[in-house]
Amino acid sequence: MAIAIVMLGILASTTPSSLAVATQLTTPTRYLGTQPANVSVYRSPDCSCCGGWIDHLKTQGFLVQDFPTPDIEAVKQKYHVPNDLASCHTAIVSEYVIEGHVPAQDIRRLLQEKSHVSGLSVPQMPVGTPGMEMGNKKDPFKVFSFDSQDSVVVFNDYPLGV
Ligand code: CU
Ligand code: CU
Repeated sequence: MAIAIVMLGILASTTPSSLAVATQLTTPTRYLGTQPANVSVYRSPDCSCCGGWIDHLKTQGFLVQDFPTPDIEAVKQKYHVPNDLASCHTAIVSEYVIEGHVPAQDIRRLLQEKSHVSGLSVPQMPVGTPGMEMGNKKDPFKVFSFDSQDSVVVFNDYPLGV
């Protein structure tokens, strides 16, 4: 009887902490803002602005894997990038698709907010976006989010460029 009471006492004292550990272990490990995120970049082998965007991501602490891909259209179809959001390169970060010259800070925000979207896009190639620098010229541009239902929403707006 005394042993049973001691056992109960041990159970009562250990249960909360073991529960906490279990919660920690089952929480999906996503990008938390301090650890580097892996980015796989698919780009045409003869595109130089894609390299500029890759350098931007590396400078911002992302770990980049570069995949020169002759048929980049096939990649966009595979990841369901809406036609009117298409740009040069297509990248995968965590479970998200990143299309075009999206600034690193928007990718970071997407990962932190864990938004329920398929990904982000900066359509075409606005001058002044990361990798598209041309002197002091800066086009206004928007970052759009898109989802599997083709719902496109403004995620961020850069009226003066970045
Ligand atoms: Cu480009
Ligand atoms: Cu590119």
